[in-house]
Amino acid sequence: MVDVELRELMQPFVLSDYQVQEVYTRFCTEIAKGLRRSTNTQAVTKCYPTYVQDLPTGDEIGKYMALDLGGTNFRVLLVTLKGHHDATVESQIYAVPKDLMVGPGVELFDHIAECLAKFVEKHNMQDAYLPLGFTFSFPCVQVGLKEAMLTRWTKGFSCPGVEGEDVGLMLHEAIQRRGDADIAVVAILNDTTGTLMSCAHRNPDCRVGVIVGTGCNACYVEHVDNVELLETEFKSDHKQVIINVEWGAFGDNGQLDFVRTEHDREVDSKSINCSQQLFEKMTSGMYMGELVRLTLLRALERNTIFKLSTKRAEFAIVLRTNTNIFETKHISEVEDDSFPEFSNTRRIIKQLFGVEKAAVEDCQKLKYICECVSKRAATLVAIGISGLINRINDRKVVVGIDGSVYRYHPHFDAYIREVMHKLVKSDKEFDIMLSEDGSGRGAALVAAVASKIK
Ligand code: BGC
Repeated sequence: MVDVELRELMQPFVLSDYQVQEVYTRFCTEIAKGLRRSTNTQAVTKCYPTYVQDLPTGDEIGKYMALDLGGTNFRVLLVTLKGHHDATVESQIYAVPKDLMVGPGVELFDHIAECLAKFVEKHNMQDAYLPLGFTFSFPCVQVGLKEAMLTRWTKGFSCPGVEGEDVGLMLHEAIQRRGDADIAVVAILNDTTGTLMSCAHRNPDCRVGVIVGTGCNACYVEHVDNVELLETEFKSDHKQVIINVEWGAFGDNGQLDFVRTEHDREVDSKSINCSQQLFEKMTSGMYMGELVRLTLLRALERNTIFKLSTKRAEFAIVLRTNTNIFETKHISEVEDDSFPEFSNTRRIIKQLFGVEKAAVEDCQKLKYICECVSKRAATLVAIGISGLINRINDRKVVVGIDGSVYRYHPHFDAYIREVMHKLVKSDKEFDIMLSEDGSGRGAALVAAVASKIK
């Protein structure tokens, strides 16, 4: 049973109704600040206009290349849009070696261009002209569909020489240096935009795109009159534009301090981007496992869990000395378990900590710790989504979501919906759909729009 001691220990992770309301209000205020020219510089949620103003009709056709950089893997894709809301995608995954994530930016882009060239050769397309949509999932200031200046690296990347630069140009130059493929970078997009576009391709009511994966962020469709940062020339033919909220940075000005725990502070202080992306550090796959590790260690130190285990001391040492040993995928596995078997939980405890046949009571407690961490993440994500939906004029809003946490966690969707039912205005209807390949199909759809404009 989960006893009072453990409940007390986890209390800081359980958001009260008051805290939820307060975070919601602060989030909405921050978005409004981000959209206004006079207050944008003070806002931490930058609300970047993406210059994507056409949602898909479903009739788009053509062959497009796509690149996806931003999580643990990097992918090259060939997308064939077939009309009738249909598309096929062929793709190849490449690992991003750790040294490339922190090494000189030029080397990263050379590696990407090399993978692209190999892919083109494998598909016998050396002689074809290929328009490419580049899903680059980091905060960027855009000045058009194909110009995107990186503002800061996130999620463990920190290659020097890229911040402040146009990543479309850097990719173009790397392709030119090789000179073995006729590829034109026609659009740069965020993964949230890709998610929104790929869901809108299937469902015309989609207005919000969310990623809860290695990182966490959202975009949504805003009326151009509310986007002061968008130049007037983009307001005559279109009434809407997708805004990349960059909500991962919410809290970077202290606004979430009243709900952050000591473990959030520790995760942040040990990260390579200290004091940045504080909302992301409470909600995304790169950090959730670490939050569980730290709380579990505290529970062990206070003798709240594994009270009768003879291996307590060794267990604590393993936990203390192995940062990231408990991964976010383990949270999903533990929460998928049921009483009294707890087969995943027992396997994980044995594999990571060498403790054989963990007691039912300890499995229940570990599950409770995981639930507190993931429910809080889902609650914060739901606050953000509700804030965006309530800004949108349409009565019915569909939200497209992707990312490993949302996709693989057994209850994340349910946790999100529960909170959204409390926060979304009562005259609105919402639904959530899992995105299918935003960085492939979504990128091709943006590339298709870009090609049309050209
Ligand atoms: C980036 C966003 C991205 C999100 C999800 C964040 O770290 O800043 O641009 O959308 O991760 O990949």
